[in-house]
Amino acid sequence: MSIRLLALAGTLWIGIAGQVTLARTADTAADPATRAAAIVRKMTRAEKLQYVHGYFPPYQKLRPPQMANAAGHVPGVPRLGIPDLRESDASLGVANNVEQRPGDTATALPGTLALAATFDPALARSAGAMIGSEARAKTFNVLLAGGVNLTRDAWGGRNFEYFGEDPLLSGIMAGAAVAGVQSNHIIATVKHFAFNAQETGRDVLDARLDTQALQESDLLAFRIAIEDGQPGSVMCAYNKVNGIYACENPWLLTDVLRNEWHYPGFVMSDWGAVHSTDQAALGGLDQESGQELDDRIYFADALGASITAGRVPERRLDDMVTRILTAAIANGLVDDPVPATPQPIAAAADAAVAQRVAERGMVLLKNTRNVLPLARKARHVVLIGGHADVGVLSGGGSSQVRSVGGIPLEIPLTEGTAMSFARVTWHASSPLRALQAAMPGVTIDYVDGRDVPAAAAAAAKADVAIVFATQWRTEAQDLPGLALPDNQDALIGAVAKANPATVVVLETGGAVLMPWLDRVAAVVAAWYPGQRGGEALARLLTGDIDFAGRLPLTFPRSAAQLPRTGPADPARPIAYPERADVGYRWFGLRHETPLFPFGYGLGYGRVTCDDVRFAGGAHPQVSLTLRNTAARATTAVPQLYLVGPEQAPARLVGWQSTDLAPGETRRITIAADPRLLPRYRQGRWSILPGAYRLTVGLAADAPIATGSVTITDAAPSPS
Ligand code: BGC
Repeated sequence: MSIRLLALAGTLWIGIAGQVTLARTADTAADPATRAAAIVRKMTRAEKLQYVHGYFPPYQKLRPPQMANAAGHVPGVPRLGIPDLRESDASLGVANNVEQRPGDTATALPGTLALAATFDPALARSAGAMIGSEARAKTFNVLLAGGVNLTRDAWGGRNFEYFGEDPLLSGIMAGAAVAGVQSNHIIATVKHFAFNAQETGRDVLDARLDTQALQESDLLAFRIAIEDGQPGSVMCAYNKVNGIYACENPWLLTDVLRNEWHYPGFVMSDWGAVHSTDQAALGGLDQESGQELDDRIYFADALGASITAGRVPERRLDDMVTRILTAAIANGLVDDPVPATPQPIAAAADAAVAQRVAERGMVLLKNTRNVLPLARKARHVVLIGGHADVGVLSGGGSSQVRSVGGIPLEIPLTEGTAMSFARVTWHASSPLRALQAAMPGVTIDYVDGRDVPAAAAAAAKADVAIVFATQWRTEAQDLPGLALPDNQDALIGAVAKANPATVVVLETGGAVLMPWLDRVAAVVAAWYPGQRGGEALARLLTGDIDFAGRLPLTFPRSAAQLPRTGPADPARPIAYPERADVGYRWFGLRHETPLFPFGYGLGYGRVTCDDVRFAGGAHPQVSLTLRNTAARATTAVPQLYLVGPEQAPARLVGWQSTDLAPGETRRITIAADPRLLPRYRQGRWSILPGAYRLTVGLAADAPIATGSVTITDAAPSPS
């Protein structure tokens, strides 16, 4: 062999060895975007095209073994060390809706509203970290978690998957959950970007809002979640925003997300949300997800043809792939890949996280006659309805977790848009058994509540009656109204008449109307409480721990108080008269009194609040002294609201969930989040210096103290 040939052989060998592990070893000190760009330069056009569209595995009859039967799969490029993207839904745990993967169970958290109700970002982070660790163990490296849409409509089918109606609370809690997921070296996604406010006609509706309203509401929530959590991807929504589909909307995906927010990650479509090749690619979509659900595949050969024809520049394809790879590298998908085969999950530790979220997120709405905590002297308690003998209700749709512990009850749907992918599912966490375990020696019975007179008769014989009222929500459908379904109002009324010591536990995905409120002694919003909800509830009802949850959304007295009285007609553009004043701000603007306000929640303790001092300037804040005057541990969640400088309803600018030991006194400071100070006007964010009002309170409409301050623009940072 000549020297020349030897040299050539050497070069080839080095080249091939280098290529196989390129993505992993290529200068790991370089920043992710630089590494991504270096890899993209080595990719063929076919390889790049392959990475910008993904399969919907349930529709793949001949699924290759490496493709999990979950929400999505994008094949990688092994010769360059580019990983497969293995995508699962995961808002409340690693999803497995309609049991796509038989026997694959995961830990089911309570609905996201419960997490929001904790007002505890550290707990949101733990919840995300728990989900992420299970996803990783199950070999998923991209999670479709993190719904950040504001709950504009009380009947929204997916409200249970979202963080409520306030942009700061939603953004901070979602950002913390995203950071928790990604601490497992996998990607999290925030969704549905943006203004997917109702399920009715979600794939055609056209949300019409002016720029200020867009920027100061849902987009603010997304921006905060993205800044705090740095999710690898953003999922664009089904609907249109100001006439243009979200997944091909250049204002949303390019002007705002990229150019204003400098978002470095990628935009994936919702499943079935792509409507074009050129407009989507040029508008800012980087990856077509679940391609079989689109009316045709837009980002494979069709995108290649558009590039060849010069309608989409090749550099745009490079940008798409660079963004996807940047997110993959930044989040460890390349340097710390998920295991090749499923690993066990830490079921006991993870269940404890689910229980903690349930314990901290349930909200005590009413408590009279000292009915709660359940007195030790109660000899006989009857539980009524809601299948409380076997478990707790869960919300339906793509977020559905097949929970550890099994599914004691599951009812298939016989009609409706969600029929093919949702079932009414209960998690095996029986409030009956949990209460029996917590109250030994007390007789605790269960009646199913279908026979109202029989339920009332059982209540009359007991010391306390606890009615479990359920309202099921699912993705793809809105509720027909805000009343409890299935004659449950009549059941509660009859039980309360038979026994004034009636407690109502609401297992709902949001607000419901309560025509019986004056007649019952206590009400608990338990949301969808997750796979340890029964145990959490038993500890709260017996007073073992105190309620710490506060409402992340307003409970109206009637739909007439709301900007709309039902789902808007998606056949026509939807104007949102509340603009950015969603939820409690709408109530503030209209001087309406809700049934229960945003931020509200009772506890067993007694907390006083003294020596309140407000400060203005560039960093507005409040300091106050909290004192737990009770002989038991409790939690206070003081909230800071800002009004002004012009006529505008109060907006939440900060809070602090504070645990207090018996008799404890604590001085705390709540700083206004600087992202809530500026308003969006004339095309930019600016702080209007001047006189403002700050209030601190234990709910949006219950100020404890109010102060006038002058707010100035932040001083320029020293150079
Ligand atoms: C939902 C998304 C979900 C996706 C994949 C869509 O129908 O809107 O939230 O991530 O399906 O399951």
